[in-house]
This record gives sequence, C-alpha cells and structure tokens, in this order.
Amino acid sequence: MRAAVSIGLTVVATAVAMVALGDNAYPWVKAVHVIAIISWMAGMLYLPRLFIYHCEADKGSKQSETFKVMERRLLQVIINPAMVVSWVLGLWLAWTAGYFNQGWFHAKLMLVLALSGVHGYFSAAVRAFAHDRNTKSARHWRIVNEVPTLLMIGIVVLVIVRPF
Ligand code: HEM
Repeated sequence: MRAAVSIGLTVVATAVAMVALGDNAYPWVKAVHVIAIISWMAGMLYLPRLFIYHCEADKGSKQSETFKVMERRLLQVIINPAMVVSWVLGLWLAWTAGYFNQGWFHAKLMLVLALSGVHGYFSAAVRAFAHDRNTKSARHWRIVNEVPTLLMIGIVVLVIVRPF
C-alpha cells in the first residue's frame, strides 16, 4: 500500500515538474533522485546494524520488542518508499537522457538490481525477526552489513566516472 502511494505520488510530482519546468525538469528530478538514494542507502546501511543488536537481545524481552518496532518502521516508512522513488525517477532520467544503450548504465543497473535483491532479503529478515524466527547469527549480519556499502561504491563510481 505504502509502495503504491509512493509510486503514485512520484509519478504525479514528476509529471507536474515536467509540465511546470519544461526543459529545466531534468536537474530537479536528478536532485530528488539523489535525495531518495541517500534515504534508501541510510536505511540499507542501518537496518543490518539493528539486526546485529537484535540477535544479542533475548527473545520476548522489552529490548527485542523495541527492535521489532524500529526495524518495521525503518523498512516501511523510509526504505521501501525511498527505493520506489529512486527507481521511478532513475528510469525517467535514463529514458529522458537516452542512457539505455550505454555500458556504464547497464553495469549500474545490474548493481542496482543486486541492491534491490539485498533489500528484499532484508525485508524477509524483518518479518523473520518480527515472529522471533531469525536463525542467522550476529556474525552473519555483520558480514551482510558490508554488501550495501560495496554496491553503493560501485554504483556511484559507475554513474559519476562512467568508465565505459
Ligand atoms: C534505482 C535505480 C536507478 C536508476 C534507474 C538510476 C538512474 C540514474 C540516472 C539515469 C541518472 C542521471 C545521470 C546523469 O544524467 O548524469 C542518475 C543519477 C545519479 N544516480 Fe542513479 N539510478 C538508480 C539508483 C541509484 C543508486 C542506488 C545510487 C547510489 C547508491 C545512485 C546514484 C546516483 C547519483 C550519485 C547520481 C548523480 C550523478 C551525476 O550527477 O553525475 N542511483 N541515476
């Protein structure tokens, strides 16, 4: 539901920006894309850190219940809507600028798809923690914690340096 509302609002806001700003819409849409990416990444970097602390809390404890609320809100209020906005605006930018036949963009898209897969993995983990069914160790989440960082570095280098 929240994802559908995010897509709807983003499409409407982008359409309004295109009509109101004409040729000047591109940099504005790019600015909102970068703001959405910052929000998405902030959540993707913080959520596995919560999982590490959550593993160390006893099941049924007050602390564990607090982590459940923090994880659910972070996912539903920040991470999911930010991912939707990033995708919608990123694809609009690529379509407008004609990047779909460029090598750096294909590579960026592969890494962003991988990041979206990690996002799905984290969503499943939030559900598992919510039902006290997490089976992974704190060490596992410490290692997984580095994956969004590495993907982010690759994506930013590809879109800014455009090595090929
Ligand atoms: C969700 C799918 C995504 C798509 C389809 C997409 C696509 C694009 C496109 C077409 C541009 C405009 C490039 C230009 O005109 O210079 C752009 C800009 C940018 N994107 Fe994305 N992007 C996505 C996700 C991401 C992610 C996950 C990150 C970082 C982790 C990111 C970081 C950036 C940055 C930093 C810029 C500004 C580059 C500049 O001004 O030179 N994007 N993106």
